[in-house]
Amino acid sequence: MISELAIRDDNAKQVCSQLCEQWKRDDLKVFVLRGESKRTQVRDWHESLFPLIGTPAHLAEDVRIGDRDQQRTGGIWMEVRYDSRFPDAYRHSANAQPLHTDGSYIPSFPNASLMTCIANTAEGGETTFIDSLVLLQILRREAPELLDELLSTIVPHARSGDRRDEQIIRQAGDRIWVNWNYYCVAKDTTPAARVLAESFHRLLQNSPGVKAGIRPVKLLPGDAVVWKDAEVLHGRNAFVPTRESDRFIWKCAIDVGIFRG
Ligand SMILES: [Fe+2]
Repeated sequence: MISELAIRDDNAKQVCSQLCEQWKRDDLKVFVLRGESKRTQVRDWHESLFPLIGTPAHLAEDVRIGDRDQQRTGGIWMEVRYDSRFPDAYRHSANAQPLHTDGSYIPSFPNASLMTCIANTAEGGETTFIDSLVLLQILRREAPELLDELLSTIVPHARSGDRRDEQIIRQAGDRIWVNWNYYCVAKDTTPAARVLAESFHRLLQNSPGVKAGIRPVKLLPGDAVVWKDAEVLHGRNAFVPTRESDRFIWKCAIDVGIFRG
């Protein structure tokens, strides 16, 4: 499920085209671009590669400009940085973040999320992934009735003025799509869909199969990771911060392999 590629100035063009080729494979969903730790201006460097990777979207949010429903900045990059002033925002806390997709409430969300790492010295803080196909197998084995409901029930997600009405798990041929963020399930969700969301949340937290199926990726300074947002769930392990910005990542949404003008 995970492809790791070493990227440097002298092979960047070739690695980006390799990424776009591998992106077409259904079995690869998470791509780690291992960079050079000595690099400064890591975010600018990755942004300079966008013409070779795909098209970014202007979907950034910032906790400093409003409540959960009004945080859009109009920019590309958003900060995921340990900041003790915002203990209730996952983007700034040191807590473990439950598995989710980033586009849960955005119908037009691009095919990927990308993160670029400035600092990650804190112990822990791995980005975690589980393949949607692995999740499907776990549900078939551990909770087949729950799976039937997940495949057939619309569970709306809403935030920042956006709304997406979709099943949490959808099957299209051999591909399994996921759309899920426990904290973004819409307030007007029907009681039945709410019960379903609670059951799925509990399963993700407690299932031994899920625990065994999770793949952690520890980003190091200079690295980037890009993943098929709707074909994996991702989360974060808790970390032990010793100072502000101990874990500092920039993140954006991007259509990999799609080039517009
Ligand atoms: Fe996320």
